[in-house]
Amino acid sequence: MPILAIESSCDETSVAIINEGKILSNIISSQYFHSKYGGVIPELASRAHLKSISDIYHQALDESKLSINDIQALAVTNQPGLLGSLVVGTNFAKGLALRYNLPIIPINHIEGHIYSSYLENYEYEFPSIALVVSGGHTALFYVKSYSEYEIIGLTRDDAAGEAFDKISKLLGFGYPGGPIIDKLAQEGNPKYTDFPRSMINSGDFNFSFSGLKTSFRYFIQKNFTGEIDLKFKQDLAASVQSAIVEVLVAKTIKAAKKYKVKTIAVSGGVSANSELRTKMNESGNKYKIKVAFPSVRLSMDNAAMIGFLAEKKYLNSHLNDYRDLTFVASSNALRARYK
Ligand code: KG4
Ligand code: ZN
Repeated sequence: MPILAIESSCDETSVAIINEGKILSNIISSQYFHSKYGGVIPELASRAHLKSISDIYHQALDESKLSINDIQALAVTNQPGLLGSLVVGTNFAKGLALRYNLPIIPINHIEGHIYSSYLENYEYEFPSIALVVSGGHTALFYVKSYSEYEIIGLTRDDAAGEAFDKISKLLGFGYPGGPIIDKLAQEGNPKYTDFPRSMINSGDFNFSFSGLKTSFRYFIQKNFTGEIDLKFKQDLAASVQSAIVEVLVAKTIKAAKKYKVKTIAVSGGVSANSELRTKMNESGNKYKIKVAFPSVRLSMDNAAMIGFLAEKKYLNSHLNDYRDLTFVASSNALRARYK
């Protein structure tokens, strides 16, 4: 029973078709033009979604070799995200639902990320600890099943991806900063200087990344005048990346031990980070905990993860569920508990 899913919460327009947990197509169009502004401009993002969504929809159907008449249900991200961007995806989906008389499953974007590691790793078990690290969110979840989880930790201020983005800007590079810092760090010395590992010993599962950005700014103001040489930029990137990664790995492993789980699932844009992948896998091996990462393409925003979770929900639903088109797009973030 193929599901057509739509994702437009931030700066990626994506349409995917999922059937029995398999991706038949997953078209992702990234709005690279935000790079020159150093961050996503919401009004421009929603206009760009509007311009591209119809093409992406047709491409997704073409690639899947299906027609809209083969689709059994629709799924769409309706929260959280940029309101104007979400409105484009939800209204496009509602239009299709009306025209083709299809049920429509609204999906929380963060929940999509939580389960995205399972899309290519069916063998990984529940319960698990899920770390979702993106540009807007950094959170730890105790996940019991596809229909039940609990938030156990959140960032108190900036998300980890936001820290990568702001530090890239301070070094004179563009947006998104994560891939740039990741690449610079591969040539740098992580022990060049010690940035704070905020809240690493706080005893809870919360995070804080805004102090890191401030101490990074002070460090470069104190130690450099004018343009910083590439070699130092690489060392700074490696040092700051290892501070971020160390906290993420330490808290996730601590949570996995406390909740006695055998699986850790890491997702969201920052899960593409090469050092996070290496360090989380090393720690997982050490404590005999399986670590699941989505492939890099599925760690960024994409509609396949939305369709994947929607299919799980739809299979557990009753005949007339998901016929209500009055649900709205909302920028609101997470529910503390999901059942
Ligand atoms: O999940 P995502 O695509 O969008 C949101 O929902 O926010 O995540 C985007 C974030 C950006 O902050 C970007 O800098 C970060 O993911 N990111 C990375 C890497 N690739 C993307 N951060 C660190 N290392 C990377 N390789
Ligand atoms: Zn995301």
